[in-house]
Amino acid sequence: MIEETETIDGFLARRSADVEEAVREAAAQEILPRFRRLAAHEVDQKSGPHDLVTDADRLAEAYLTEALGALLPGSVVVGEEAVHADPVTYEALQGDAPVWIVDPVDGTRQFVRGEDGFCTLVALAHRGVLLASWTYAPVRDQLAVALRGRGAFLDGERLLAGPPTPGRDLAVATSHPDYTTDGQKQALRALWTEGVAPRPCGSAGLEYLAIARGELDATVFSWEAAWDHAAGLLLVEEAGGAHLTVDGEPFRITGGNALPFTTARDTATAHRVAELLRPAG
Ligand code: IPD
Ligand code: CA
Ligand code: CA
Repeated sequence: MIEETETIDGFLARRSADVEEAVREAAAQEILPRFRRLAAHEVDQKSGPHDLVTDADRLAEAYLTEALGALLPGSVVVGEEAVHADPVTYEALQGDAPVWIVDPVDGTRQFVRGEDGFCTLVALAHRGVLLASWTYAPVRDQLAVALRGRGAFLDGERLLAGPPTPGRDLAVATSHPDYTTDGQKQALRALWTEGVAPRPCGSAGLEYLAIARGELDATVFSWEAAWDHAAGLLLVEEAGGAHLTVDGEPFRITGGNALPFTTARDTATAHRVAELLRPAG
């Protein structure tokens, strides 16, 4: 069992390239061969018609669960599809073992439509602290890696988000209406104001990458599922950005956050958006 964060740092220094390889292999073996070749029986609905799962999601998660667990003995995996099958497995986020947080296909809707805007998301956390993450868009062949305290990189190039362009509306990707309850929509209404240009998000993981690349100013999301956010939050932090809940606290991957929350390209923008979201009174 890995006991100390220093030991995990050592693991990352030695084996980060192996994690990268596992992520690429999961996509090469289980996702890409099914891209634009999915048969109807390989696609199922979860909570409704917008919430899909395919054989690629299930098999890529199974591949990563085995590969990542073997790379770091004593670690556990919280994967989207495993949690769907058994919600109790989500509780591992609260435990003492290092946790791999896996979204095998983020943007399954785009994947099913044959569009390239989807990715595989993996993060490593320990006692609620995000230590490393991988965001891989296999059709675009883009791999972003973040290592706590060591930076964010896209295909080996350092990412620095920088401040927004002065005088331009803030570009904000926000919870897609198909995935948002009426109460959540109400909490997001403040974004439809002068100086802000909100739009529905695509793959959450790729929106975080867009912030880290300086192509998007912020996201505002109203749900907590760790697999959607873990990789991207560290990527944006390491590119110089910040995240804040509507209460002004950093978002906690272990849950219990006040929602919605924003993630932005710099701290000033995170405060500006969080302030907008705060209910009057
Ligand atoms: C979804 C995507 C989508 C976002 C949803 C997520 P999935 O993840 O990121 O863009 O709007 O809220 O659940 O189901 O494709 O992994
Ligand atoms: Ca997702
Ligand atoms: Ca998914």
